[in-house]
Amino acid sequence: MTQDRHTNKRVLLTGGAGFIGSHTYVALIEAGYDVAILDNFENARRDVPDRLEQIVGTPAQVFDCDIRNTEAVQGVFAAEQFDAVVHFAALKSVPESQSNPMGYFETNCIGLYNIASAMQATGVSRIVFSSSAAIYGNPESMPIAEETPACPQSVYAQTKRVGEEFLTSLAQATPDLRLGILRYFNPVGAHPSGLIGEDPSQTPTNLVPVIARVASGQMAELRIFGGDYPTPDGTGIRDYIHVLDLARGHVLSLDALFGETGSHCVNLGTGTGYSVMDVVKTYERVSGRTIPYHITDRRAGDPAVSCAATGQAKAVLGFEAQLGLEDMCVGNWHFLNRQNR
Ligand code: NAD
Ligand code: WQD
Repeated sequence: MTQDRHTNKRVLLTGGAGFIGSHTYVALIEAGYDVAILDNFENARRDVPDRLEQIVGTPAQVFDCDIRNTEAVQGVFAAEQFDAVVHFAALKSVPESQSNPMGYFETNCIGLYNIASAMQATGVSRIVFSSSAAIYGNPESMPIAEETPACPQSVYAQTKRVGEEFLTSLAQATPDLRLGILRYFNPVGAHPSGLIGEDPSQTPTNLVPVIARVASGQMAELRIFGGDYPTPDGTGIRDYIHVLDLARGHVLSLDALFGETGSHCVNLGTGTGYSVMDVVKTYERVSGRTIPYHITDRRAGDPAVSCAATGQAKAVLGFEAQLGLEDMCVGNWHFLNRQNR
């Protein structure tokens, strides 16, 4: 399905300096959208806007703003008229959310409220919301379709589900408001320039950033959480999706909100699952490094398998992932090496 492109539209990316936001910035500029970034750089390097300028050739407009600050958010929306918001800004660590639930609800829910409120006050009627496969929890049947009941297993996942429900009910009560909910599976990879990528400032907990630290010698070994799952090699299976595919999904989502399709809620994944061992072997091949590992107990709350049903994203947005696990590992490794040069 092809969507008409509405490329003269002005879009605000909250959290646009972060991992997924920065790649989406590039994809939206390349698609002809007029894009500004709002970020407080709490989990992004200050030089990301300069790097984005190197990639796209024009300076990035950046609002240094904390979404928890109601007046500051109102100030951004008063300064500029936007046609749409893509709301990435959030805290995203599952373990951290368990030790700091108030902080997670403040940023992920009150911050979202501030954005939605400023949108309403200034007549902005399109929003794309970053949600997560984490809202599904531990579903029994695979692949996971969008109709699967939500069953969040962490404070982080709960904040994402609250965000979905808040925006859905707002859209139902507000005839003009159009909403795209995108449930990402496991994003990995980086822009081919090596200028932007996943750059965790804290000790990483996600698989590929941990593997990257082991490959580069910053961590001694990978702990594999569970070798006795009912999977072919006993390790957990996930649906890893390249961040460039994810970024393209946001362009299609915005196109849909500005076109005939309107509101939607879709998974963004590849539909193909890889085990932890698959990822280790692929990363070893592309990096030429050995990844020492040992198998430990399962991590609490981890499902054995998590894979997206992809039919709805294809039917509604025309979205299909194009890149594979090797591309993701190459992208991650290339980015890491460029930072360390
Ligand atoms: P990220 O941390 O790289 O990006 C989030 C950005 O938001 C950062 O630039 C950070 O500085 C900014 N930010 C955080 N708190 C802020 C605040 N109070 N005010 C303004 N800006 C703030 O994370 P990401 O991986 O790019 O994730 C983007 C979105 O996608 C998040 O909403 C996350 O929950 C969601 N998501 C991520 C994953 C994943 O595995 N990376 C998976 C599913 C969903
Ligand atoms: C992947 C696989 C682990 C680390 C999380 C969030 C989810 C979403 C994506 C934001 C699992 C195994 C991991 C390690 C390991 N983020 N693993 N050793 O848990 O599928 O999803 O990130 O929305 O909300 O929950 O991703 O990368 O942590 O784990 O063995 O050191 O790797 O057990 O099988 P997960 P992950």
